[in-house]
Amino acid sequence: MLVILLAIAVVCATYLFVATYNHLNYWNKRGVLCEKPHFIYGNLSELEHTKNLSTIHNDFYKKFKRKTPYIGFFFHLKPSLVIFDLDVAKDVLIKDFSNFTSKFRYLNEHHDPMTATLLNLEGTKWQNLRKDLTVAFTPSKIKSSIKRVQEESQILVEYLEAIQDIDNVIDIRELVVRHITNIMCRFCLEIESKDFKKDVFYEKALEILGSSTNFYNRMSRSLIASFPRLFTKLGIKIISKDMDNFLINTVDNVLKDRSEDKVDFLSVFLKMRDVTVKKISAQVYSFFEASLITTSTTICTALYELALNEDVQDKLRKEILEYLDENQGVCDYASIKHCKYLEKVINETLRKYPIATQLSRVCESDYTIKKWNLKIEKGVLIIIPTSAINMDPEIFPNPEVFNPERFTPENIESRHSMAFLPFGEGGRSCIGREFGKIMLKLALIELLRHFKFSASPKTDIPLKLEHTQVNLPDGKIFLRVEKLY
Ligand code: HEM
Repeated sequence: MLVILLAIAVVCATYLFVATYNHLNYWNKRGVLCEKPHFIYGNLSELEHTKNLSTIHNDFYKKFKRKTPYIGFFFHLKPSLVIFDLDVAKDVLIKDFSNFTSKFRYLNEHHDPMTATLLNLEGTKWQNLRKDLTVAFTPSKIKSSIKRVQEESQILVEYLEAIQDIDNVIDIRELVVRHITNIMCRFCLEIESKDFKKDVFYEKALEILGSSTNFYNRMSRSLIASFPRLFTKLGIKIISKDMDNFLINTVDNVLKDRSEDKVDFLSVFLKMRDVTVKKISAQVYSFFEASLITTSTTICTALYELALNEDVQDKLRKEILEYLDENQGVCDYASIKHCKYLEKVINETLRKYPIATQLSRVCESDYTIKKWNLKIEKGVLIIIPTSAINMDPEIFPNPEVFNPERFTPENIESRHSMAFLPFGEGGRSCIGREFGKIMLKLALIELLRHFKFSASPKTDIPLKLEHTQVNLPDGKIFLRVEKLY
């Protein structure tokens, strides 16, 4: 019996070895340059240990960009093609979008219903949901949301005024995460925060933020990405049962008490086709996830760079004070666009600290990249390493320097339209772009009109980043915050 079991084990192990060996030779067999992949992590074996995805892309970009316009890559075990050519990137994202509508993300509607969101869905389900949710972000909806976002930004300022202590050195990351959580609670759940500091939603926000940084989650996401079918069949969840229950109960209670139809995300969720409490909860989760990771980090990294670059901070404050003076302190959708320097500072922050390190699209049917006469098979992932492009000295000279003047109209015009894609591009680009920018702008306007930010001995220079797939700061961001008037 033992011999038979042993023989079966040997046959299975041999089969697995040969299958993996063949799989990892995918690019070699097709004559495409590819660095030797790891048998579980593919070309991401340094992720989690010594590097984040941004650094991995940067290293590949520097090593290969001058030699070849593309390289074969294994994103975990998924055969992928990393492309350095911006014209081809444009074809994939825009011109031939109909063949590249999906991303390679974990979706397990049955066992992990909170994954059934716009971020992860594919095909007709994604298309229908995108149509249903787009109405949440029309210019008129954004316009009517400004007053409430500004109120939340003022609450942030009041809180910051109250906690000024002896050396005025504060972890701005905690404050900003609380602030974005409060805004999202208001827009997704119609719940106004009672106490800026003691809110159960903040704990949940940390859990959502930690979902990409916590070690267990990172490992399980990594294994899921390498063996997606196996993990889907096994019913492995990446979003905790506690989080599911918390959101479903919260949404249920909010809907019971709801008396009027407000102009917010919840009212849009309620009009989705085939709506259920679970479906609403999943969208709430994804909107929290998509805005917390991106918007809160961008506000923090902008303040961090402003603290290190006093001249930029002074110039931006001058523009803000003049703008508020002209508008009697009121910010509105039309006039906020006149704050040109603010726009430049935000763009430069997103260039230096892009949250998404790459844009990726799955090839849905065999496709030929005409420029290289290269056949891409169905299922291959195309990766555009945006974070590495942002640091290319041929596109952005002296990329380590924080210089908002890179975003003058003339400089933008002189670059390829795909050289800077902080919100993605094409049919699958960021749906919350305008709302996100409003949150960024109003937070910076309210904070800079009242406070001066500078580095302290507790400030990490340069900023440490997590070894994850997104560009998140590693831990707290301490800055000295002084009241101005
Ligand atoms: C600074 C703020 C933000 C940045 C930098 C950002 C960036 C991005 C990026 C790079 C993508 C992927 C685009 C692509 O693959 O082409 C994306 C997708 C998405 N974002 Fe944002 N985002 C921000 C704010 C927000 C906010 C506030 C929300 C929601 C309220 C949001 C919701 C989404 C959703 C749902 C998707 C998936 C869209 C789809 O696949 O159809 N984002 N975002």
